[in-house]
Amino acid sequence: MIHMAILDGRSGGPLTIRPFMARMPSMKSKHAHFQEQFPQLAERAREILCASPACHDWDHTQRVLNLARHLARVEGADRIVVEFAAVLHDVGRPDELADQGRTCHAQRGAEIAERLLGEVGIADGAFKTAVSDCVRTHRYRRRHGGKPASVEAEVVFDADKLDSIGAVGIGRAFHFAGRIGARLHNTREAALNSESYSREDSAYREFLVKLQHIRDCMLTREGRRIATLRHEFMVQFFDRICREANGEDVEVEGGSNQ
Ligand SMILES: [Fe+2]
Ligand SMILES: [Fe+2]
Repeated sequence: MIHMAILDGRSGGPLTIRPFMARMPSMKSKHAHFQEQFPQLAERAREILCASPACHDWDHTQRVLNLARHLARVEGADRIVVEFAAVLHDVGRPDELADQGRTCHAQRGAEIAERLLGEVGIADGAFKTAVSDCVRTHRYRRRHGGKPASVEAEVVFDADKLDSIGAVGIGRAFHFAGRIGARLHNTREAALNSESYSREDSAYREFLVKLQHIRDCMLTREGRRIATLRHEFMVQFFDRICREANGEDVEVEGGSNQ
């Protein structure tokens, strides 16, 4: 609910100021007639994702959908393509989890997306391709191919990345660390000299290795704006937890607290 308040301007803080939000009016989608198939499709995605671990479960997809709707509005992307792609973007996850990562869930998800769209009665090949292309490229990394090639794909990519940073990103990082038995917190040195899935694979390690770089990967202007705010919150949080872990926050200014 917090991110919704931020996105629709009810937060009351500085985040309510969005000077360029009105620069791009909400565009009517030429695919609006597919809207009635959306609830059925979302239900299929929910069934597929409800058993996934919390980092990539149905809750994550709903947050990505909310962010994607906002980004689509601001960036002038086709709302229907974005909504369908956002709700389907991780449907390949269970297959990737089942074979320990040999399957790429974005590639597999694009195939499943095309099939599910057909199963809910959508035969429009161009629409199916537009949606599945967003799913296929939502995992894009600079050193690999498959860069998002449409504004809709960029929006879905950014929405997915935004959900991995900020307060939600911190929560996800601690959730993952707890699931693999990692420490609550460790030093920068211990974190950076450790391996994935080790006891030192803490939330702080996730921040240092991955989360602090996500802001620089954003593809849309509005995505970058939100990512910057979420990034600043993470920096403050991890600075604070480092100080608390060292007892620095209880020191009395100008002398000892003993
Ligand atoms: Fe994904
Ligand atoms: Fe995702």
